[in-house]
Amino acid sequence: MPQWLKDAVFYEIYPQSFKDTNGDGIGDFQGIIEKLDYIRDLGCNALWINPCFDSPFKDAGYDVRDYKKAASRYGTNEDLCRLFAEAHKKGIRVLLDLVPGHTSEEHPWFTMSQKAETNEYSNRYIWTSHCFEGAKGFPYIGGESERSGVYVLNFFKCQPALNYGFLNPKEPWQLPVDHPDCIATREAMKDVMRYWLDQGCDGFRVDMAASLVKNDDEEKTGTCAIWSNVREMLDSDYPEAAMVSEWGNPQLALKAGFHMDFFLNGRGNGYSTLMRDYENQEDHSFFKKDGHGDITRFLEDYLPRYEASRDNGYFCLLTCNHDTLRPRYNLDETELKLAFAFIFTMPGVPYLYYGDEIGMRYLELPTKEGGYFRTGSRTPMQWNHEKNAGFSEAEKDSLYLPVDEADDAPTVAAQESDPGSLLHTVKSLLALRHASADLQADAAFEPVYAEKGAAAFVYRRGALTVAVNPSGGTVTVPSVGQKSVIYSIGNGRWEEDRIILEPQSFLVLE
Ligand code: NOJ
Repeated sequence: MPQWLKDAVFYEIYPQSFKDTNGDGIGDFQGIIEKLDYIRDLGCNALWINPCFDSPFKDAGYDVRDYKKAASRYGTNEDLCRLFAEAHKKGIRVLLDLVPGHTSEEHPWFTMSQKAETNEYSNRYIWTSHCFEGAKGFPYIGGESERSGVYVLNFFKCQPALNYGFLNPKEPWQLPVDHPDCIATREAMKDVMRYWLDQGCDGFRVDMAASLVKNDDEEKTGTCAIWSNVREMLDSDYPEAAMVSEWGNPQLALKAGFHMDFFLNGRGNGYSTLMRDYENQEDHSFFKKDGHGDITRFLEDYLPRYEASRDNGYFCLLTCNHDTLRPRYNLDETELKLAFAFIFTMPGVPYLYYGDEIGMRYLELPTKEGGYFRTGSRTPMQWNHEKNAGFSEAEKDSLYLPVDEADDAPTVAAQESDPGSLLHTVKSLLALRHASADLQADAAFEPVYAEKGAAAFVYRRGALTVAVNPSGGTVTVPSVGQKSVIYSIGNGRWEEDRIILEPQSFLVLE
């Protein structure tokens, strides 16, 4: 287990929208390099960069055409390697985004696989035996290839599924997981990982990590075996490299070999009750001031998974990601401060999505590169009040996505000069986390006060106690022995046998 994860705080960068340095309207590697000091000063010491490889960009780069080539719109392979080196000089690690479940339909492997004559890549993707034989239960495309057969999709139409085999093959065209061609797919993906690790990348965020083996069982036996095999490679050759899965099932993912797994937003799940509980018109999010939520719905879902993660790796909380509505969609700045205070003082490794530190808004926009509703969370970073919010020198019409043009759109520059800003709160919270081993990824966690219908939540981290009251009323909770407040948002205090939490307050006590 890489020790650096204990004190890691990740910053997710959607490279399209972070910083454009060559005036073409889209972000680039050089832009990330120029903002490394900003990221370090914020308190983040690791990056996750969304796919930055050659691609037709029908799914924003999650449709890879060449795993070993940087997308020219961001720069060259050399630029990406320079980014690794510059980040390392500042104590920042860099995770790339590995998409192992599918490629672009324009990947040369797929072009070869579509050919009528059998070749090395014929089984790299999943094909049925005949052009009129559907793929039974799997999404598929027929009629587009000279090869007679239909192929299975992993996500959008542009993303044919790579073939890692079937756990219990039921049809002649379903290969077993130990078929040499399925092993070859796994080895090809390991080769891609080695390629970037050898050049200084520090690991991978793994897209749809559970999707590899088809007809897998509930325990994901087939898929887990592949990740265990990958982990063996990392442990022996790249022990400092880290992998985080897009899975949401730490019971399986961490056992399989991932070091971290995400608690992803899902309709009605525990994570969604924190900041995005607005499904049925009314907003009952725990961090909404008048949401009347309580923390128990989060804990019911979180605790079993947290328990399963202990000693195996980390179950991680995110402010947001490129697939989710920004939390500023429904939470105001004060509500966000409390939500982030919670996320940054919980166990596991926290992930901050670019722009959330200033409370960037969700914009209603037409779809771009397969983004659909997600597009509104992918707009250019707002650095200052200059042209295009300091994102790019390009003409407005040629920007990748429009910048938030509201008069009160938040910017880094404005918040840097306001000591009461969300940005300052994020910085102070991350500084506190780095300074207190008790707040870091593997320190003990125990809920102390979590009641149905109660607005406040109190939890212990190591020797510290953390208390949060997101509601508009004052809440008094029984004291837990600690007396001195070492960090606060809003007004709260300790009094003999109780903690008094005034409206919208957060305390760390020792
Ligand atoms: C999950 C990624 O986060 C998302 O953006 C992408 O569209 C799908 N996987 C398909 O790769």
